[in-house]
Amino acid sequence: MSIHVSVICSAEAECLALSNPDVLERDMVITAQAGNADSLADVLLRDQPDVVLLELADDDGHALETIAQTLCQAPATHLVLVSEEHSEAFLLRAMRAGVREVMSGPLSPVTVQLAVKHARLNTTVSNRRVRNRGKVIAFIPAKGGAGATFLATNLAYTLSKMDKRLLVLDLNMYFGDASVFLGDKAAVSNVVELASQVQRLDAILLRSAIIPLSENLHILPAPELPGGFSNVSIQGIEKIIEIARNQYDFVIIDISSNLDEVALRALDLADVIYIALQLSLTFIRAAKHMVRVFQSRGYPRDKLALLVNRYESGGIIDLGDVESATMRKVTLTIPNSHFAVTESINQGIPLLALAPRDRVARAMRDWAAVLAPTASTPQPKGWLHKLIRTA
Ligand SMILES: Nc1ncnc2c1ncn2[C@@H]1O[C@H](COP(=O)(O)OP(=O)(O)OP(=O)(O)O)[C@@H](O)[C@H]1O
Ligand SMILES: [Mg+2]
Repeated sequence: MSIHVSVICSAEAECLALSNPDVLERDMVITAQAGNADSLADVLLRDQPDVVLLELADDDGHALETIAQTLCQAPATHLVLVSEEHSEAFLLRAMRAGVREVMSGPLSPVTVQLAVKHARLNTTVSNRRVRNRGKVIAFIPAKGGAGATFLATNLAYTLSKMDKRLLVLDLNMYFGDASVFLGDKAAVSNVVELASQVQRLDAILLRSAIIPLSENLHILPAPELPGGFSNVSIQGIEKIIEIARNQYDFVIIDISSNLDEVALRALDLADVIYIALQLSLTFIRAAKHMVRVFQSRGYPRDKLALLVNRYESGGIIDLGDVESATMRKVTLTIPNSHFAVTESINQGIPLLALAPRDRVARAMRDWAAVLAPTASTPQPKGWLHKLIRTA
């Protein structure tokens, strides 16, 4: 795997010297630009480098603070400072800011090669790309009205409250409504518009197109009106998903039950597909059909998860009927809570915020805790945990 190196030089002339091909090792990609600590955030977002060399002309007191704040968003970055300052106090502050090494100037091809050599010895660099890949989870109703959008958006909100960074990607090309469930802030762009700019699509362009609902929760909405989506760029959609999974812990994709080409390509790229259904014959028939379609596309068994929404036990139809029709175990059930869910949708306030003690909100919390276990989150015990794990 090649190593990506970004160099931020204090003067333009040094950048030119570093663009010399002699600097490059066979599996090294290098980009150099003039700048300072304030440039770091943009460089991380644009280049997604493994190693950054930042030349610090002089520490004005703020540079290390800026570096510390920026590295919080990308803690696995191997940041090397090139500086003449080597006092004990400075080295200590640099270390606390997340800097891996402080090297003496001047910044030269030899400095870059040495920094890369040291970085290669640090296993976090070779592991970083793997660890930074977010999980792509798709939600699709077996047929319309199963509750896929409600569950996708509310799971996203719940995970965002557990310190996970998420992008909700609305691929409902006909009247996508995911943003409504989360408060419906004005959109600056949409998924179709963004996908059409496939040549210049990068993390910065994605960032400029999303609605930031909070620091952790972003949404890329569907077009407000259906139209122009018949020639949506599939390549663009693939690129959006690929970039997003490098930027977020989870990419939650909301898809309609019309299995068009865009939907199928997005589903191909997903790690897990939740098929939402309810306990009625029409839903079960639709789920059975959908499972067959996905099997014929060669999806591995553990990629599909059956999610029974609005579940109430004791009815004529039970989970066994779903399982024998689809030949699959039900992964998860979410209870019915008509009043609270309707209020949440009508007010555009996620259920966890509106009614945290509601049973659906509690089920969401348990579900999120299994998907994103943390040291401080006790794992839900019993059937839910077992079902999700063995699905
Ligand atoms: N657990 C639940 N309890 C009570 N009502 C629910 C629950 N989940 C969803 N609903 C209701 O179901 C309705 C449909 O939900 P949603 O829009 O999420 O379905 P969908 O599967 O995305 O459908 P489509 O995309 O085809 O329109 C919502 O308006 C909501 O009131
Ligand atoms: Mg929907």
